[in-house]
Amino acid sequence: MKLKPYNFILSLFPTSKTPPKSSMAASSLSQTSTSFHTSAPPEPPQDLDDLLSSDPRSQEREPTQSHPSSVDDASPFSNGEPSRCLGAWSRAERAWAHWAKLGRPKLIVAPMVDNSELPFRMLCRKYGAEAAYTPMLHSRIFTENEKYRRMEFTTCKEDRPLFVQFCANDPDTLLEAAQRVEPYCDYVDINLGCPQRIARRGNYGAFLMDNLPLVKSLVQKLAVNLNVPVSCKIRVFPKLEDTLTYARMLEEAGCSLLAVHGRTRDEKDGKKIRADWSAIKAVKNALSIPVLANGNIRHMDDVETCLKETGADGVLSAESLLENPAVFAGFRTADWIVGSEESHKDGQLDQAELLVEYLKFCEKYPVPWRMIRSHMHKMLGDWFRIHPQVRDELNAQSILTFEFLYGLVDKLRNLGLRIPLYVKDADVERISANGSAT
Ligand SMILES: Cc1cc2nc3c(=O)[nH]c(=O)nc-3n(C[C@H](O)[C@H](O)[C@H](O)COP(=O)(O)O)c2cc1C
Repeated sequence: MKLKPYNFILSLFPTSKTPPKSSMAASSLSQTSTSFHTSAPPEPPQDLDDLLSSDPRSQEREPTQSHPSSVDDASPFSNGEPSRCLGAWSRAERAWAHWAKLGRPKLIVAPMVDNSELPFRMLCRKYGAEAAYTPMLHSRIFTENEKYRRMEFTTCKEDRPLFVQFCANDPDTLLEAAQRVEPYCDYVDINLGCPQRIARRGNYGAFLMDNLPLVKSLVQKLAVNLNVPVSCKIRVFPKLEDTLTYARMLEEAGCSLLAVHGRTRDEKDGKKIRADWSAIKAVKNALSIPVLANGNIRHMDDVETCLKETGADGVLSAESLLENPAVFAGFRTADWIVGSEESHKDGQLDQAELLVEYLKFCEKYPVPWRMIRSHMHKMLGDWFRIHPQVRDELNAQSILTFEFLYGLVDKLRNLGLRIPLYVKDADVERISANGSAT
């Protein structure tokens, strides 16, 4: 197997050392291709959960470190004068100029903890995604912990446009974290939507909806001091008027792009509760900056309907991409064949093939094994339901290797299994649109 160098992604932080072999997926690759077996256990960093749920304000901070300067000289946000000096351009005009410079991406990979990491983003980009968010990073841990930075944030030059997302509740800490990543991204995003218990304990995400002055100060801090624009991802309030007041406040504070997840903080089960696209439409109509819609994007028909109904400038998809990273290329699982079965044909692609492509990206761009394990389960969920013994084999394997994982896919195929992804049959569509099917 031909192995590619991965020095670029490991050199983002000058103080980084080579990742420990114990937890990065392809850490053994720089030695020989036969040393896969020495790769490590899939456990998350021992104390990550505790770290993530800790309230950043309760920790003492190290002094601010110097940060790299912006690499994006053509950006209206990087003229050496961050947004406190607006010049002739209004904020909204600058926001739109930046969005246009990025090519107005419409099809976007949503932020997902442990799941929207570099290899997955690269896979989705290959299959139609036009931009992507990193998983949420914890701003305080990011500023303090070199190992966390090295393990949890990697990128490469093809990984653009990129939103790097942080959770935070302290403006200075957030700025310090943001300054470390700004040369490598197109937006620094603030997570204002995480509804999980861990966010309640850590006082971030959707729980900041109870403290809007703090939210305002986070946005302002970045808008005034960064060379890249700040974006926010929010959930809606139960009352539309509260959502609109919130969104207007964010725009006023310097937010340049707003992603709206059309569910409230209490509506946690995305599979059972439909997102409210009418609230997203109202936000879009109330603001002057680009607005992205999030919720209920399962296939490309949803994209079209959502953009039409909300007027949003793009969509984010999360759960559906985990099962099928080729959603934005027009592929869909059998669950989402709407209309007659004949209107769709086998797209000559399946999740096992996508998984193999994902694993190849992981070899090129090492990530913690726990992320790879999670994608195995998501992408092969339907396959495992038919052959649960193969899933049991994966679960029993505490130390993963690429050899083992490729072997698992071969095993499913040798069992005679194939579950295709479907594409719309253009011929059928054309004929039925003309009403002249014979
Ligand atoms: C596994 C997983 C991890 C997630 N992590 C994040 C995150 O880090 N930051 C965030 O803002 N939202 C996160 N979300 C929420 C999604 O970005 C998205 O808002 C939500 O799933 C609704 O989109 P969907 O209907 O397309 O799934 C996560 C969702 C999933 C399924």
